[in-house]
Amino acid sequence: MKFFVDTADIADIKELADTGLLDGVTTNPSIIAKSGRDFREVTAEICGLVDGPVSAEVVALDHAGMMREAEILRKIADNVCIKVPLTIDGLKTCKKLTADGTMVNVTLCFSANQALLAAKAGATFVSPFIGRHDDNGFDGIDLISDIRLIYDNYAYETQILAASIRHGVHVLQCAKIGADVMTAPPAVIKGLFKHILTDKGIEGFMADWAKTGQSI
Ligand code: E4P
Repeated sequence: MKFFVDTADIADIKELADTGLLDGVTTNPSIIAKSGRDFREVTAEICGLVDGPVSAEVVALDHAGMMREAEILRKIADNVCIKVPLTIDGLKTCKKLTADGTMVNVTLCFSANQALLAAKAGATFVSPFIGRHDDNGFDGIDLISDIRLIYDNYAYETQILAASIRHGVHVLQCAKIGADVMTAPPAVIKGLFKHILTDKGIEGFMADWAKTGQSI
């Protein structure tokens, strides 16, 4: 499963990119607003830190406006992936952009039928929002499972990018079901490295090693 980080925080992206385990970055208008920076500048900086796709979202709601904004966004760097909402205009834009080889992430997906439409529109990625689905009384993991089944039935190449991930259990469940990618906040990804028994084990080994008086 590929790991994307859902942030525009440069320090966090650098730290995770240094592990060699980061495959991409996702942003959205709220994340850019939180960064307090110019979207071109921060997106260009992020694109220089990772080789993989960096999702940058359009804010126009009509097809012509989305195409205009996509032109601006894709000029920022070769690894920009244009993010469009799952609407009729968003999918028209997706179809057009992917036809000429541009990567597209169709976002705000909350049903398996919407994911089916995104695949038919040739999306590179579809982003079902697990956490927000859960918050509204639905099961976000069931949604990923249904999309996996449908995509496998028809061998759709659209990658399932599990989004709105809130904790490590979501990551584990996505991996078991076969989501292609997951995007999570930096804290959730950093949390995956941790286990109390790993810390305790290191502590014990260090204490015993110190007794030997040796160094490597
Ligand atoms: C995905 O690309 C979105 O940016 C993101 O995962 C939204 O998550 P949230 O529900 O935590 O805002």
